[in-house]
Amino acid sequence: MRDSAHALPDHPSYADASDASFHQIWTLINDKGAAALHLPQVAHHRLTAAYLPFILADRSRSLVVGQLGQSLDGRIATPSGASRGISGDAALDHLHRIRALVDAVIVGAGTVVADNPRLTTRRIAGRSPARVLIDPNGRSSRQAHWLTSGDVARIVFSDCGDGWPTDVIRIPSPDGDGRFPPAMIIETLGLLGWKKLLVEGGARTVSQFLDAGALHRLHITVAPVILGSGPAGLDLHPIDLLNEARRPRVGLHILGDGNVLYDCDLSAN
Ligand SMILES: NC(=O)c1ccc[n+]([C@@H]2O[C@H](COP(=O)([O-])OP(=O)(O)OC[C@H]3O[C@@H](n4cnc5c(N)ncnc54)[C@H](OP(=O)(O)O)[C@@H]3O)[C@@H](O)[C@H]2O)c1
Repeated sequence: MRDSAHALPDHPSYADASDASFHQIWTLINDKGAAALHLPQVAHHRLTAAYLPFILADRSRSLVVGQLGQSLDGRIATPSGASRGISGDAALDHLHRIRALVDAVIVGAGTVVADNPRLTTRRIAGRSPARVLIDPNGRSSRQAHWLTSGDVARIVFSDCGDGWPTDVIRIPSPDGDGRFPPAMIIETLGLLGWKKLLVEGGARTVSQFLDAGALHRLHITVAPVILGSGPAGLDLHPIDLLNEARRPRVGLHILGDGNVLYDCDLSAN
């Protein structure tokens, strides 16, 4: 019996990605796209709902999702910046599925410096998205994995022109001051046909996009671990009153290993 079946009763609000059938469902979604949604085994698995907005997205508009993998106490890394191992395998599989469903994945310079992520879909069946780095001062390594692993298009938003590989497109800041408003980034990528975007981290980058009203969805996975210190996932403009808080509609999914996905729909906020 699955762990999550012990943790939660069989409830229509919950779906478990750790059951063997979900792997098969993902394969169908990946192979057939929207056509798979007519298949009963796909339509009836509640976790499919987390992927529907990407599968059915209207390509004339951008769809931007932020993600954070955090601890029970809301931290996304230790004080020294280590974040690998917070999320369990099931949450990482979920992250790779979202990567496979978007056109491009966006990260900030802090994440490349701290984590050196590859930004591929190697954990699952699915194609890897294009990669976008926001690195105004060009402080990340030119040997970093996002530049060297795999054969996908790469863009850097940076005012520093030094040392990028020749096939990397560099876009300078509009006013030459190293600031890249999220709306400008989304519009620029949209002109390339990259409409479905994943803002994968870190905290400052996701927070900026959320503060700017530039996220349509936010996927927060909560892992059963307590760090007790370290940066919070979100740090937004302060509010005084609770009625100013964002209260997105939320889909809740059990991913396995005790990891839970909060799929937040921000479109009404
Ligand atoms: N658990 C998770 O889900 C997760 C995911 C990703 C990362 N992380 C962790 O998060 C930490 C890194 O996060 P972070 O908040 O320090 O850094 P970050 O968000 O990765 O990068 C922030 C930096 O990127 C640049 N940047 C981002 N958006 C910009 C914009 N719109 N305009 C101009 N510059 C922009 C700036 O670079 P400059 O500083 O050069 O100006 C900014 O300081 C690491 O510890 C990593 O392990 C955790």
